[in-house]
Amino acid sequence: MAYLINPNITKKYEKKIFLKLKLKYWRFFSKFRKILRILKKPFYKKIYSNNVSFDREIIDKKKFLESSIFYKNNSYCFMENILDENFYSNLLKNFPPKEFFLPARHLVKQYNFGFKWVYTDQTDLKTDYFYEVNHFFQVLKSSYFLDLLNLFTNDQNRRLLYSYNLTLANKGAILFPHKDSITNLDENATLSKKETALNMIFFIKGKRNSDGNIGGTGIYLDNEFKKPIFIPKNLNNSLLIYRSDAELFHGFEEMEKDSERFTVNAQFSKV
Ligand SMILES: [Fe+2]
Repeated sequence: MAYLINPNITKKYEKKIFLKLKLKYWRFFSKFRKILRILKKPFYKKIYSNNVSFDREIIDKKKFLESSIFYKNNSYCFMENILDENFYSNLLKNFPPKEFFLPARHLVKQYNFGFKWVYTDQTDLKTDYFYEVNHFFQVLKSSYFLDLLNLFTNDQNRRLLYSYNLTLANKGAILFPHKDSITNLDENATLSKKETALNMIFFIKGKRNSDGNIGGTGIYLDNEFKKPIFIPKNLNNSLLIYRSDAELFHGFEEMEKDSERFTVNAQFSKV
């Protein structure tokens, strides 16, 4: 779970009555989305299925490895145009619609979550239509990618894919600045699991040409958005990596109007 949340930010949002109701009755919105899925079911296959196949090299290997030194020195790094163009455009085109996501449930992270997988699940990802979402998952889990990650971290700790999920956010969404606690992994997480945990946020879609708050997860020194170190401005095919146990906060400020944010998130650690 997220911890070291600033109480002032919490207080500010706790005062919003409609927001509190929306979060409290998330199950209602979830049911509504389920009905929508049933109604739209005959159309999904037509809209989202394609016969394109991709190989495992969907990530720009050179660019990825070049960021390794910056990551080592700063505990985070950011890369642009990281996914193969062809794969990226298909993923963007076939990104699951809102009704496949769970609505926001927590004050600290007010946006939609979906396609959650954690290491302890012995099953594979459940996706009926979204080929690219599943392919992305398979690549991140593959020994091909884990070898690449090994070269990137270069620290003798071989990590595995620990969790994977997708998020969808738009105007009004916010992620309070926080640190990831050990329980973000799971309650029995070992120290080595905590120390090796590394987060990746693949930004798939974001508002272009804006200097405002578009949902770029930023790296901060404080938990009030007052001391930013780095805030991503390009959320279209970019990647933020950060160490979960670094002495840094991460979060994004309330998103501005006409903004939309699609991400694929993965967490790696020693297990
Ligand atoms: Fe976090």
